[in-house]
Amino acid sequence: MIKATKGVDVRLVEVGPRDGLQNEPEHTSAEFRAELVNQLSDCGLSTVEVGSFVSPKWVPQMASTDEVLDKVTRRDDVDLVALVPNMIGLDAAVAADVDQIAIFSAATESFSQKNINCSIAQSFERFKPVIEKSRQLNVPVRGYVSCVLGCPYEGKVSPEQVVPVVEHLFELGCYEVSLGDTIGVGTISSTRSLLRALSGICEPASIAVHFHDTFGQALPNILIALEHGISVIDSSIGGLGGCPYAGGASGNVATEDVVYMLNGMGVNTGVNLNELLEVSEFVFSYLKRGPASRVASASLGFSNQQ
Ligand code: HMG
Ligand code: MG
Repeated sequence: MIKATKGVDVRLVEVGPRDGLQNEPEHTSAEFRAELVNQLSDCGLSTVEVGSFVSPKWVPQMASTDEVLDKVTRRDDVDLVALVPNMIGLDAAVAADVDQIAIFSAATESFSQKNINCSIAQSFERFKPVIEKSRQLNVPVRGYVSCVLGCPYEGKVSPEQVVPVVEHLFELGCYEVSLGDTIGVGTISSTRSLLRALSGICEPASIAVHFHDTFGQALPNILIALEHGISVIDSSIGGLGGCPYAGGASGNVATEDVVYMLNGMGVNTGVNLNELLEVSEFVFSYLKRGPASRVASASLGFSNQQ
């Protein structure tokens, strides 16, 4: 169903071109976005989120995702994914020939309203025809749940709020559900409680984790996820990103930092860290600032000393 990952222990889902660039105040060009996707694919990342087909009034940074897909070099070993909130988005994504789509819901009503302008229940009604048509067209559907460990509007979120949303996404037909710690407030304990609660309703193989690193807890939380048998991790080049509807949230955990940690553990991701660091330099020289990635910053420091 998905192209990815022969011989890989952990599959990384690179979300920088979408979750990262959707949050940049300066809009990035379709040429730059396509080049970034190409370079990330060349490093060995087999699932790359290229952008989203959402309302350009809501997230103008992601307008022209169709152009990005038009310019990207297609590869047999890379799945290009786009976020889709409704049928308008699906039709545009299919016309642009994405490999997969991702739908996105939330664990709290307030975030759902702010992010997609409807309740959680209404979002499921919108997703039904999206998934139905995707199934007919053989387009795999990934699901996201935002705010699984905390919400910018409602504060603490309990596993009991998350479990039914995850369950519903699987019932609708998602092949994988990614747990979004949108504002990066999760800790080892809250991550563990959530994963224990989810172990009653699904296999770890169908769950991905998506940690933002606001409070510097993403790597320890990923370690907990690995201990629970999870083998799909979302990350973003250089730690780019945030969420337009979660003020103050920082970027996703940096792909470089995750690869460095997993390399040290002998866990194979299929991703070449040195090449990834070059991509990081490419991105941040374009954006004219430094990366949030500790590994990228440290490597830059070492190479300047030599
Ligand atoms: P709405 O205003 O309620 O939509 O927005 P509507 O159906 O009333 O339509 C209003 C207008 O938008 C119409 O145009 C539609 O055609 C147009 P008009 O007649 O006014 O000219 N429209 C669209 N245009 C392009 N593409 C579409 C589309 N749909 C409607 N797909 C809507 C509802 C869902 C569209 C809006 O709220 C939206 O686009 N939200 C997206 C927000 C978003 O992208 N957030 C960031 C991604 S989620 C995230 O980052 C979290 C994640 O990383 C995980 C984590 O960290 O937790 C995934
Ligand atoms: Mg995110």
